[in-house]
Amino acid sequence: MSGLAAAIEASALAMLIAGTPHLYPALSALHILGIALTVGPILVVDLWYLRLARTPGLAPAVPVLQRVSLAGFVIALLTGAALFSVQAVDYAENPAVWVKAGLLVLAGFNAAAAHLASRRARWVGAVSLVAWLSIIAAGRWIAFL
Ligand code: HEM
Repeated sequence: MSGLAAAIEASALAMLIAGTPHLYPALSALHILGIALTVGPILVVDLWYLRLARTPGLAPAVPVLQRVSLAGFVIALLTGAALFSVQAVDYAENPAVWVKAGLLVLAGFNAAAAHLASRRARWVGAVSLVAWLSIIAAGRWIAFL
């Protein structure tokens, strides 16, 4: 694993990001934008699953919110991978990175289950809500471990 991380850190992409002024903070800002677009809409959908958002007319907006969230997730994934590459060796040893990765997989399976389920199951909203809030916490913890 550490050999792979070292190879990622020595890659042309990582060198480019590390060697280009302002590129890392720009990617970091885009990562935050991706996070906002992912988590904001999906939290509204989660509350709808939990029957806590009873605004009339919300139901038809749910697929739109889910699509915006997916677009945000693609931005977060691409920028997150780019940020990761710059310090891959350190990140590979950081428990918060692995907690975050595991939670992202959980959120992905939960989203897939939500699409397969025939009815609006409350547990889908509960798992998603906890997973995304925990992902944000784990992401913020990375810098402090
Ligand atoms: C939508 C999903 C994601 C969320 C909600 C999220 C959340 C966060 C948060 C809250 C931070 C801290 C930002 C800051 O304080 O400046 C962060 C940083 C970071 N994220 Fe993500 N992230 C997501 C996806 C990803 C993915 C898929 C990767 C890797 C493939 C990744 C890699 C990183 C890296 C490397 C950092 C910088 C950590 C540091 O050194 O402080 N993120 N993320």
